[in-house]
Amino acid sequence: MGGKLFFFYYIHLPRQHLLVLFSLLSLAVASQVSASWYSCSIKGLPLVRNLTNAPQSNYGRGGLSHLTIAGAVSHGMKEVEVWIQTMAPGSGTPIHRHSCEEVFVVLKGSGTLLLSTTSMKTRHPDEPHNFPISMNTTFTIPPDEPHQILNSDEHDDLQLLVVISQPPIKVFIYDDWSMPHTAARLKYPYYWDEECFQYNAKDEL
Ligand SMILES: *[C@@H]1O[C@H](CO)[C@@H](O)[C@H](O)[C@H]1NC(C)=O
Ligand SMILES: *[C@@H]1O[C@H](CO)[C@@H](O)[C@H](O)[C@H]1NC(C)=O
Repeated sequence: MGGKLFFFYYIHLPRQHLLVLFSLLSLAVASQVSASWYSCSIKGLPLVRNLTNAPQSNYGRGGLSHLTIAGAVSHGMKEVEVWIQTMAPGSGTPIHRHSCEEVFVVLKGSGTLLLSTTSMKTRHPDEPHNFPISMNTTFTIPPDEPHQILNSDEHDDLQLLVVISQPPIKVFIYDDWSMPHTAARLKYPYYWDEECFQYNAKDEL
């Protein structure tokens, strides 16, 4: 019946109306894609979701493409949160630390992990160690250890699967490796948690 109705419109509507109809249809499809990832609640989400065209954003960070696959504020996860992040050549994370555990799997590309292993015992991070990372390598960031991930490749994207514990993440950001731990700035909620964080906060009022 829907097909017949569409056919009716198709043959009777002038071109401009068809354009409007088509735009509305695309909008509906786009918002469905979006709603299946970012409804700020687990309610109503399909159990099995297709990653291929999941909406990603750089959240104001040049070269980044972030997708929260399963998150605390976006999907109601309690213990863990999972992301996919893609970093363009020359881009990377800020130098930062967090008290949660973090596990990485490199899905594509290569880059560098900088990790300062002294934790909070010194006033500021120690000179970081450099670890080359590449496709099919994995690494774990110990709680509170300042670190940075860079795509040091000139051509290819670096793509990472990231798992964190205790979401939503509370990130302390350093301007450089000599910045005292106490001067690192807290960013909470983190960029990709902002929208649903506010939504959920409003919900609770
Ligand atoms: C996921 O989406 C892509 C692009 O739309 C499509 O080609 C692929 O078949 C989908 N996979 C599944 C399992 O639905
Ligand atoms: C990555 O590692 C897994 C586990 O050892 C292995 O089965 C797989 O073939 C590897 N993939 C690539 C692309 O090297």
